[in-house]
Amino acid sequence: MSSIISLAVITTLFIGFPQTYAQTNITASACAASSVYSSCNHDVADKWSSCLSRCKGNGDCSVDCGCTAHQEYINCMAHSCWNQVYSCEYQLFIQQYFTICPNAAEPIPFWPAPDDAAGRCSCALGKVLQNTLSARKEQVSCISNIADETVNTVTGALGDLSSIGKNVADIATTAVGCACCGASASISAAWEVCPDTIPIQAGADLWTVFFTSDYPNLYTSVTDFTWNTCDSTLGSTNCQNVGFTDPSDKFYKPGNFPSNGTSSLSNVGGTVSIPPSGTVISWSQASTTWTVTATGYDEKAVVSQSEYSATATAMSTGSSSDSDSDSDSGSGSGLESTSSSSTDNSSGAMGLRPIGSFALLSVLGVGILL
Ligand SMILES: *[C@@H]1O[C@H](CO)[C@@H](O)[C@H](O)[C@H]1NC(C)=O
Ligand SMILES: *[C@@H]1O[C@H](CO)[C@@H](O)[C@H](O)[C@H]1NC(C)=O
Ligand SMILES: *[C@@H]1O[C@H](CO)[C@@H](O)[C@H](O)[C@H]1NC(C)=O
Repeated sequence: MSSIISLAVITTLFIGFPQTYAQTNITASACAASSVYSSCNHDVADKWSSCLSRCKGNGDCSVDCGCTAHQEYINCMAHSCWNQVYSCEYQLFIQQYFTICPNAAEPIPFWPAPDDAAGRCSCALGKVLQNTLSARKEQVSCISNIADETVNTVTGALGDLSSIGKNVADIATTAVGCACCGASASISAAWEVCPDTIPIQAGADLWTVFFTSDYPNLYTSVTDFTWNTCDSTLGSTNCQNVGFTDPSDKFYKPGNFPSNGTSSLSNVGGTVSIPPSGTVISWSQASTTWTVTATGYDEKAVVSQSEYSATATAMSTGSSSDSDSDSDSGSGSGLESTSSSSTDNSSGAMGLRPIGSFALLSVLGVGILL
C-alpha cells in the first residue's frame, strides 16, 4: 500500500497554484462503489473547470471554486469511498484542502482519523495538522496581545518618551518568542504524533506553508527570523506563558529534536466495512451545508470491490439548520447542498486583524530594534 502513496509536500505545490486540478489520490478500485466514485470525481472536476472559466481570472472567485470543488471531492468520498476515509490519501487530501481554502474550518468529515480507526494511516496526519492549525491560532493571538501592549505602551508613555525604547525592546523580544513558540509547536508535532514516520512525511514542513501563507507579515516583520536561531529564545521563553497550549507540551528547540523516524506512510489496521459516520452525513463549511448518503455499503461491496448501484437520497438542509431531518427523494446523486451565499466571506479560520496588528508592530519600529 505504501508504494502507491506518493507524498510530496503537497502543500508547497499549491501555494500560488490554487486552481491546479487535484483530487484525492485514492485509487477508485479500492472504493466501496468504484464506478460511482469515479463518475462523482469526474463531475466535480468538470464543475470545477467551468466554475474557473466563469471567474475569468479573478483570484477570489478562483479560490472559491477550489474550496467548493474540494468540498465536493470530500462528498464523493463520503458517498462512495467511505471505506478509504481514514487512509493516508484522504488525510493528505484534507491537508491540501486546508492549504488552498482560507475558509476551511473544522469539523471536517472523517478528519482527523480516530486513533484506532480501521484502515487508518500509519501516521495520524490529521492530528499533526490540527496541531499546526492550533499553533497558528495561538501564535496569532500571542502577536495580537503584544500589539495591544504596544498600543498601551505608546499611549501611556506620551508624557515619558524615554520609557518607550525599553518597553518596545521587551515587546520585540516577546514577538520573537511568539514566532519561535509557534514554529516549534507545529514542527514538534510531527515527531510527537508520529515518532516512527519520516518527519517530512509526517508534516514537519507544514508550518512553512500554514504560517507564512496566511500571515506573510509575521516572519518577515520579525527581522531576520529564522527557525534555526530559536534555540536561545526557546530556552528563555515559557511558551505556555505566552498563550501556547500544546497538549503534549512539546516545544523542541531546533538543535534538540528526538531522532527521526524512518517509516514511510502506509495504511494499517484492517478494513472499513460500514460507513463510519452512518449512512447519511451532514456537514457545513461557511454558508454551505452538505448532506451525503453513503452507497455501496453491502459488505460484499467492500470485500469484492464490485459495484452496487447508488440508492442515493438527496436531502437538503438550510444554512440555518440544526439537525433538520426532512428528506426528499433527490435527483439520485446523493450529494446535495444548500448555500445561502456563494460569495460568503465570513470570518474563516482567522480574521485579518492579526496581520494588521503585526504591521502595527513594524510601524512602531519593533523590527528595527531587533
Ligand atoms: C497526489 O499525488 C500526486 C503525485 O504524486 C501529488 O503531486 C499530489 O500532491 C497528491 N495529492 C494529494 C492530495 O495527496
Ligand atoms: C530529520 O528530519 C528533518 C526534517 O526532514 C531534517 O531536517 C533533519 O536533517 C533530519 N535529521 C537527520 C539526523 O537526518
Ligand atoms: C466580504 O466582507 C466585507 C466586509 O463584510 C464586504 O465589504 C465584502 O463585500 C465581502 N466580500 C465578498 C466577496 O463577499
